[in-house]
Amino acid sequence: MHAIGVDIGGTKIAAGVVDENGTILAMARRPTEPDDAASIDRAVKDVYLELSQDFEIGAIGVAAAGFVDAARSTVLFAPNIAWRDYPLQDRVRALLDADVPVVVENDANAAGWAEFRFGAGRDVDDMIMLTIGTGLGGALVVGGRLVRGAWGVAAELGHMRVVPHGHYCGCGNEGCWEQYASGSALVRDAQAALITRPERALRLLELAGGDPAALEGPHITEAARQGDPLAIELFAELGRWIGEGSASLAAVLDPALIVVGGGVGEAGELLLAPTRHAYENSLSARGYRPLADFQLAAMGNDAGIVGAADLARI
Ligand code: BGC
Ligand code: NA
Ligand code: ZN
Repeated sequence: MHAIGVDIGGTKIAAGVVDENGTILAMARRPTEPDDAASIDRAVKDVYLELSQDFEIGAIGVAAAGFVDAARSTVLFAPNIAWRDYPLQDRVRALLDADVPVVVENDANAAGWAEFRFGAGRDVDDMIMLTIGTGLGGALVVGGRLVRGAWGVAAELGHMRVVPHGHYCGCGNEGCWEQYASGSALVRDAQAALITRPERALRLLELAGGDPAALEGPHITEAARQGDPLAIELFAELGRWIGEGSASLAAVLDPALIVVGGGVGEAGELLLAPTRHAYENSLSARGYRPLADFQLAAMGNDAGIVGAADLARI
């Protein structure tokens, strides 16, 4: 059976028709209007209409960047999108002129599931997935099972506190990991550098078209790839936050593998090398225990689409 996976992130909506082997057969995209939940419902309908023209669709999986309830239908809360107790499944079903099942999953859980079934985690039973974009999403696979918790909202790893009284977070707390280890944090720090260290930020400013406010994550990735020292340093700092937080998670879960996905993953080794370094240097009992492997998501930024579609079939 073919299913559609729709991944709704803080900046874009990406959808695809996915077969039972996790292969994407066709794709569609829309921008996200994070302050307008109804426009997101309509975008899901639009991509369904577009993608169902050429394929018979048996189910729709919607991966949402927020806290999704155990019934896989309501988004209880989203830090970066205007969903509050939002009946996403009902809203989407009401718009569709078709009797196709709709299932809502957390976006990072969907991505982690895809990597576990078909991607970087195929050969392990215990893995952590981190999706690093607007927010920091998490998925836990423990003993071959996706951990959902009692109410569906387990694995909100981005909201572990890593800095007492740190940056304010969209979840209502301060000092969450997401505020230090996300694409938003990377852009925030880069924008600060444009102001405080302008002589080192010439390349970044140029890529942003001369306007600090127009700087986006992909500009920083591009600059780092071209060897720009400031951009490389910003990724090293991001990697340090990811690696140190992952070491704390290892104290709880002892994973074999940590998969890094999301838009920021596009930086590849520029991000993973400092991440591994920080992990190895902050792990408890280091030197006396096996190290988890760090890998980029095999499906890159499409893992959420594949996982949402696959989970919708279950
Ligand atoms: C949300 C998560 C989501 C993650 C990645 C976080 O801010 O709380 O539900 O998985 O962002 O989109
Ligand atoms: Na999650
Ligand atoms: Zn938070």
